[in-house]
Amino acid sequence: MTEARIPAVRLGEHGPQVGVQGLGCMGMSFAYGPTDAGQARAALERALELGVTLYDTADAYGEGDNERFLSPFFKAHRDEVVIATKFALSIPKDDPAKRIIRNDAPYIRQAVEASLKRLDVDAIDLYYMHRRDPDVPIEESVGTMAELVREGKVKHLGLSEVTADELRAAHAVHPIAAVQSEWSLFSRDIEAKVVPAARDLGVALVPYSPLGRGFLTGSFTHAEQELTADDFRRQQPRFTGANADSNAALLAPLRTIAAARDATPGQIALAWVQQRATIDTLPVVPIPGTRKPDRVAENVAATALILTAGELAQLEPIAAKVAGDRYADMAFTSAGRE
Ligand SMILES: NC(=O)c1ccc[n+]([C@@H]2O[C@H](COP(=O)([O-])OP(=O)(O)OC[C@H]3O[C@@H](n4cnc5c(N)ncnc54)[C@H](OP(=O)(O)O)[C@@H]3O)[C@@H](O)[C@H]2O)c1
Repeated sequence: MTEARIPAVRLGEHGPQVGVQGLGCMGMSFAYGPTDAGQARAALERALELGVTLYDTADAYGEGDNERFLSPFFKAHRDEVVIATKFALSIPKDDPAKRIIRNDAPYIRQAVEASLKRLDVDAIDLYYMHRRDPDVPIEESVGTMAELVREGKVKHLGLSEVTADELRAAHAVHPIAAVQSEWSLFSRDIEAKVVPAARDLGVALVPYSPLGRGFLTGSFTHAEQELTADDFRRQQPRFTGANADSNAALLAPLRTIAAARDATPGQIALAWVQQRATIDTLPVVPIPGTRKPDRVAENVAATALILTAGELAQLEPIAAKVAGDRYADMAFTSAGRE
């Protein structure tokens, strides 16, 4: 596999040019247990060397800590990076299981100013609505987001975990560059409605958790036994109890294909999501998250791995057999509202 810089792709008809794989930065300071800031900074630099330009954060990750952590890297490489951040979700540090969702105009205005200040940049390249508050019409929220574009505070708009209907309604107000939703060998619910809608509208897909939050790499099986008390994955039904055992057994074909291709199971998972989207003729930029430079290189190398029809057929049945939802409360996801 190559270590050359990855190619670039336009992030949908209305988005910026970015490397074909992005980097999820959430775990660098949030959600996945103890972190090493020096190593995370090295991972950011390694990604840039390899042609990764889309960096993903959110104001919700540690109440702004993640944006603050990334700011020096973004400022040092402002012309080379595409900064994606999000609003709409708050997760209080003193009550990490709680979710507060707001989509109203005054909140959006306050959130964008706070993110710009923490990031210490003049504009956000891609600004996502992180979660939907169904009590606020999406036209109203996207109307406010469109004002931010006109004011130069934001360059492109994105939505996360929206339904196909919500995407269509939003896109009618202002062009949407990308939908960021969970998409992996274990999580394929968006393929029924969201993916076809995005394809019809020329909207790119940014698959989050393409490694199934690490589970698809085989790096853990039982969240409650192997991960630290503050690790978010302990709240996810598919990584605990009997579900974790039966889901781990589903990784067998990934391991077999990986061994045959001199690759890792994680690389097979990343190659699958990239190729699956191509079948739907969608521009797709997965954002695997890692805090380790070696893993950045491993993940980036998967962009050059093309799976055969036979390998794809072996992987096809996995998702339907996964035990347990991807969140404890699916109401926050597109599948939970469709
Ligand atoms: N829009 C949303 O609602 C939403 C939700 C979740 C995530 N996201 C975004 O999507 C990004 C990616 O998702 P994610 O981080 O949840 O899940 P992911 O990318 O599926 O997996 C991340 C996990 O896999 C591990 N990992 C990464 N590369 C590996 C490798 N080559 N070998 C072994 N383990 C590896 C990481 O550990 P190390 O860090 O220790 O390497 C981390 O624990 C996040 O960073 C965030 O920016 C968005």
